Amino acid sequence: MFNPKPTSKVVSFTLILLISLTFIHSTPTDQQDADDIDDLLALDEQEDNQPSQKPSSEADVLTKAQRIVLELNNDNTQKAIDGNEYVFVLGYAPWDVRSAELMPRFAEAAGCLNELNSHVLMAKVDAERYPKIASSLGVKGYPTLLLFVNGTSRPYTGGFSSEEIVIWVRKKTGTPIIRINSVDEANDFLKKHSMFAVGLFDKFEGPDYGEFVKAATTDNEVQFVETCTSQIAGILFPDVKSTSPVLGLVKSEPERYTSYEDAFEKDKILQFLDDNKFPLVTVLTEVNSVKVYASDKLQVYVFAEADEFDKLLEPFQTAARTFKSKIMFVFVDIKDDNLAKPFLTLFGREDSEDTLVTAFDYKTGAKYLLESDLTPSNIEEFGSGLLKGILPQFYKSQAIPDNKGADILTIVGKTFDDLVLSSSKNIVLEIHTPWCLNCETTTKQVEKLAKHFKGLENLVFAKIDASVNEHPKLEVEDYPTLLFYPASNKSNPIKLPTKSSSKDLAILINKYLKEPAHEEQHVTKDEL
Ligand SMILES: *[C@@H]1O[C@H](CO)[C@@H](O)[C@H](O)[C@H]1NC(C)=O
Ligand SMILES: *[C@@H]1O[C@H](CO)[C@@H](O)[C@H](O)[C@H]1NC(C)=O
Repeated sequence: MFNPKPTSKVVSFTLILLISLTFIHSTPTDQQDADDIDDLLALDEQEDNQPSQKPSSEADVLTKAQRIVLELNNDNTQKAIDGNEYVFVLGYAPWDVRSAELMPRFAEAAGCLNELNSHVLMAKVDAERYPKIASSLGVKGYPTLLLFVNGTSRPYTGGFSSEEIVIWVRKKTGTPIIRINSVDEANDFLKKHSMFAVGLFDKFEGPDYGEFVKAATTDNEVQFVETCTSQIAGILFPDVKSTSPVLGLVKSEPERYTSYEDAFEKDKILQFLDDNKFPLVTVLTEVNSVKVYASDKLQVYVFAEADEFDKLLEPFQTAARTFKSKIMFVFVDIKDDNLAKPFLTLFGREDSEDTLVTAFDYKTGAKYLLESDLTPSNIEEFGSGLLKGILPQFYKSQAIPDNKGADILTIVGKTFDDLVLSSSKNIVLEIHTPWCLNCETTTKQVEKLAKHFKGLENLVFAKIDASVNEHPKLEVEDYPTLLFYPASNKSNPIKLPTKSSSKDLAILINKYLKEPAHEEQHVTKDEL
């Protein structure tokens, strides 16, 4: 049950304080009528811990939201699922950090949906306390969100803020679009929403409108609104042209208004949203990270301190305009370890606070580093090189070491070509990392072997630390790995067994020194 889903690459602890709020004491109940959502009080699994605690006012609000979330148990689950057209279920574990982050947002969404008179029963199941119930519902990890429609579940595909949860649930339960009927409603809507798609139609019918509705239902995160008066449309989307139908996307940033210019077809509308929904430069947060990582666009990441980023925002916005819909630009606060560290490690910069501009092509797994000054033209060149696929890929390398007099050569990313692939010698290469379990034993063996073979002109012993050095021709999964590169053919190194004795290794190396390499590929320890 440890499968992390949704898959946030990084875990945040910032919301851990809210754990205490999500388990606020509330009145335990017996079985209740599942049709009456308001009467379904959450059972509190921790009631014994805080028997007489007076809730604070903030806690009051959450308790109220909690109350409209049904706590599923052995008695009420079947009735709840069978007796309601829509049930939205959160599967969680009390100790799970990401469950704890999501629960207050889920509760807030439940409160909001309740106010909107949504016909969705919001429910949660403690998968640790009721493992059978959880697994019968299809909860396979923490946290899991599932929407049951007439008893059949579908996975959650929306965002993870409370607002995004509300939008998604409404989309999938019969209210994909909010209709705005008056100027007041429009102004009110603007106060609550900063990002939405607005449609202006003469009548709410016909093929164009049908495609608009289909797009609103299929999309997972953008709130759609509709109106049939251009006055109201003009409040929401000042760029509105007089001829309907009109579709526009509104965001809270410099590129606030984007007009849709194409034919009203569901797939084209969805593509338009996909190309335009992110800001010019997206600031990465715990909440939007899942969405950002899910994008398969080329991505340029800027790692900088917030002050520094303020200065860089404009040139990057300019670049983002140039590469709109093709490259996503993302800013990460370099001081936010949870978000920044995993990326910085990829570039060997985990201990640096200097501004770093990188790029990723998730389709090929390639990573790139902008090494020139951050001038607008260099940024633009970086973007266009990325787009054309002509940027040199980044490989980590330590500084070139002095190997003078060394029995065992230290190889780094930058010297792998010269000292291994282009060398005229046979090479025995040890690939190690600082944290690997058996590397030390192998290192000692290699030292012994180097001594044993000392003076042999055509054989060189070498080692490389794979945690800080990379090369496209060096792809190893286990550490330590010992490779024999025959002088005659460097393209197919032979794997040496790391678990045999030094003596056996010496015999093997002698054999390879005499025999043509291609007959002896991929020797494993089983063959010894
Ligand atoms: C759920 O079932 C009811 C009763 O059969 C039906 O009227 C309703 O349309 C169904 N809802 C969905 C979303 O299929
Ligand atoms: C080197 O080994 C590879 C893989 O077995 C083989 O395809 C290639 O022909 C060899 N090259 C030479 C020069 O023997």
